Amino acid sequence: MNETELIERAHQAAQHAYAPYSGFAVGAALLSSDGEVFTGCNIENGSFGATCCAERTAFFKAVSEGVYDFDAIAVVGGKDGDFTSACPPCGICRQVMAEFCAPDFKIILRDGENVQTFTLSDLLPLTFSL
Ligand code: THU
Repeated sequence: MNETELIERAHQAAQHAYAPYSGFAVGAALLSSDGEVFTGCNIENGSFGATCCAERTAFFKAVSEGVYDFDAIAVVGGKDGDFTSACPPCGICRQVMAEFCAPDFKIILRDGENVQTFTLSDLLPLTFSL
């Protein structure tokens, strides 16, 4: 599974986004260390704090199926079907990544025609841990 394929899986997942309040659809595709892909979309709620981001949906699907080791996640997002700008993960999702992933875990974003790859330590330095 290369980066472009993972981005495409994220894009497909974004089609399932439930985002009636923000109109902002997000899709994520999480690649486990054994090559399995878990997808997720954002799922909003009228009680806004109950909303779950696409990245956390993907992580919680994987962990709930007993998968704990991950190599990379691709994320796309945007309004009105426009996914051309990069959609970096929010702080809560970065913290969830830090719970399960090594500092070299890859976060893959699409910015226009370009694919940008960051590590978790790029996006979340000085990580909190117990
Ligand atoms: N959202 C995500 O799915 N992932 C993020 O990392 C940031 C934000 C969703 C939550 C909400 O449904 C919408 O984007 C607008 O904030």
